[in-house]
Amino acid sequence: MSISRNIRGKALLLMTLMAGGQAFAQQPRQKLDFDKNWHFNLGAVEHGETPSLDDSKWRTLSLPHDWSIEGKFSKDNPATPEGGALPGGIGWYRKTFTVPAAAKGKLVYIDFDGVYQKSDVWVNGHHLGFRPNGYISFRYELTPYLNFGGKNTIAVKVDNSVQPNSRWYSGSGIYRHVWLETTNKTAIDEWGTYVTTTDVSTSSAKVNVQVQLHNDKAASQLTVTTKLYDAAGKFIAAAGEATSAKQNGAESLTVTNTLTVKNPVLWSVDKPYLYKAVTQVTQGKTIVDEYTTTVGIRYFDFDADKGFSLNGKPMKILGVCNHHDLGSLGSAVNTRALERQLQMLKAMGCNGIRTSHNPPAPELLDLCDKMGFIVMDEAFDCWEWKKATYDYHLFFKEWHKRDLEDQIKRDRNHPSIMIWSVGNEIPQQADTSAYRIAPELAAIVHSLDKTRPITTANDRPDTSNKIVKSGAIDLIGYNYHERDYPTFHNRYPGKKFIATETTSGLETRGYYEMPSDSIRVWPTSWDKPFVREGNNVSAYDNTRPPWGSTHEMTWKIMKKYDFLSGMFIWTGFDYLGEPTPYSWPSRSSYFGIIDLAGFPKDVYYMYQSEWTKKDVLHIFPHWNWEPGKMIDIWAYYNNADEVELYLNGKSVGIKKKTGDDLHVMWRLKFEPGTLKAVSRKNGKVVLTREIRTAGAPAKVELIADRSLIKADGKDLSFVTVKILDKDGNIVPDADNKVNFKITGEGFIAGVDNGDPVNHDSFKVNYRKAFHGLALAIVQAKEKAGNITLSATADGLTGSTLVLKSK
Ligand code: GAL
Repeated sequence: MSISRNIRGKALLLMTLMAGGQAFAQQPRQKLDFDKNWHFNLGAVEHGETPSLDDSKWRTLSLPHDWSIEGKFSKDNPATPEGGALPGGIGWYRKTFTVPAAAKGKLVYIDFDGVYQKSDVWVNGHHLGFRPNGYISFRYELTPYLNFGGKNTIAVKVDNSVQPNSRWYSGSGIYRHVWLETTNKTAIDEWGTYVTTTDVSTSSAKVNVQVQLHNDKAASQLTVTTKLYDAAGKFIAAAGEATSAKQNGAESLTVTNTLTVKNPVLWSVDKPYLYKAVTQVTQGKTIVDEYTTTVGIRYFDFDADKGFSLNGKPMKILGVCNHHDLGSLGSAVNTRALERQLQMLKAMGCNGIRTSHNPPAPELLDLCDKMGFIVMDEAFDCWEWKKATYDYHLFFKEWHKRDLEDQIKRDRNHPSIMIWSVGNEIPQQADTSAYRIAPELAAIVHSLDKTRPITTANDRPDTSNKIVKSGAIDLIGYNYHERDYPTFHNRYPGKKFIATETTSGLETRGYYEMPSDSIRVWPTSWDKPFVREGNNVSAYDNTRPPWGSTHEMTWKIMKKYDFLSGMFIWTGFDYLGEPTPYSWPSRSSYFGIIDLAGFPKDVYYMYQSEWTKKDVLHIFPHWNWEPGKMIDIWAYYNNADEVELYLNGKSVGIKKKTGDDLHVMWRLKFEPGTLKAVSRKNGKVVLTREIRTAGAPAKVELIADRSLIKADGKDLSFVTVKILDKDGNIVPDADNKVNFKITGEGFIAGVDNGDPVNHDSFKVNYRKAFHGLALAIVQAKEKAGNITLSATADGLTGSTLVLKSK
């Protein structure tokens, strides 16, 4: 970064804060995006908190930032391949900013949505605190240490040097957003509203807004009023009643406004309708605070026999577990990248997300509210006993209460959240200490929210499980053990069930082994490693670890019984780390229904055919084989009675699903040409699909998911790169190296191809195709204009794409 750009950046920030200063007079509360213009140094710094330290040579960057994703893969990195094989270390971030003199008398806070991990924060050399948990959101008050009208320096030390501390890729750094918030002395607390909806029906509902505020002693008479607005921003005058409460004296107050909403539009997964509650604190005629809370009106129930229902309608939670990384973007949170993941899952018919195994980014929960996903919000992967050597167990005793309280307070207004999980596969399921800890955690949650059940994800779901025996758990959570589900009530009569984690199917996108109709369990015995060339796993949904099941095995059981209220499949997306069934050179997982780059594996369409009403016909594998080889062709389909397959125009037979079949299969001797599948209902064609034998790679094709993006420095266009033959067929084994060039108002934020064994950096301008596909993620700059992305590959016709940012 050039010095002049640096200075311009700083001037801009100053202007923003000054503009904020202007607004202080009118605006009682102000939340500023504090992501820009941080200086970063990778490595330890002696007294990096000292205000006078010269950080001018440090790199200037915008948050969110994950330094691990910029590093080199190596099996020797202390994270190990389980943790993604990328480097950790210590990093320092510093930011200098000016607070206007007009802000004197206000309270000023800095809010971190998440820092991985073990962060120390200073302002003007004063130590504000240490926070070990890498996933929790936290705030510090800056007021007493600020120079109002002058320069201030924030310094953050992030220590992710002691590893392994995670069983998956964590990322390193200030990888979520940072905010600067200013309020009056009398103001609503952080996470200071708690909204519940009661007596909900389609004709009426009560919206109860409990408001927690702190009171400047001078401010004696206060009125707290909440108004509700509908999704169009209209005051619900006819439907709601604003109420107010007056209090005085005390420093900390709690006031509850109860509003009645007539004919509420209920929040559901199909229609995730959101209201806004605007709470005002007034003193005489002066508005001293204004605070907005998103509200969804809904009710739900877990029933021991009937399973889950939302707004009185029975349904199943069809969910996936995801880790927090965003593939080649690492753990640096990006709202569009999260939204794209959720859009793909929604299109598959998925309606649930488990935030395995930690508090998520706030943006994920906002999106789940908006897009209609039911969330199981999870707190911990371990309690007092370790999983990874330097895991959170080292901090659990001292920090679990604070961390869990903060998570519940931060998240409890999200209508999407319907389950709290206080632990995943906690080893103390087998130890009597569970009798002490589980009830304590449940009490913490219940003291802050009684409207949602508590679960733990148990890998020992037999009746000897001491967490369950403690009686603290509302929903009995099963991880795996799918074949025991039908007999659940023999073990737990009258209890409520949730499949907190299922499946663990293993697949490499685009890789197929014949024959396909036998289930492969890895490992067959613990001393026999799973060996395949290139560390691949066949994509026929027939490979599973011993503790898990294939996708079809699991879903066949889940769909049969109403009392099985829902499931969270391991996992929606591949993630960095945990490369089961392999280890190095693999560095990312094989569990996803969708690969790391965001390309669906075949089984995606099995779910789509079962979980959506839209017409589906998906046939695979590709049609490029050695002549004479026997090939299994599978079809996932729905809304049809039969599928007929043709090879080079000749029918090779009609197949129909019978019993609990989820696919049909033909076994054919390969001959080059065209495979065509036709699905029919009552003799009428529903869908037709064709796969042709591809010739040699001839050209590169670029397809953007969005060609118009926002010029906000954050928005993304995901560009799929296809290697095609001269007739436009995708070449299924193409691995050509594609070079990208980008000009104009965008840059390449990451490249990928979904290959778990690739060791090229995600942050370069080239990528080899993997089974014919690669991905380039284009990020907008802040200036509107054209973005031109070109792709070239040796011997192939290249391609150019022009995107726009506005
Ligand atoms: C589960 C665990 C997950 C993941 C998964 C892989 O036991 O909860 O975090 O490790 O296994 O199959």
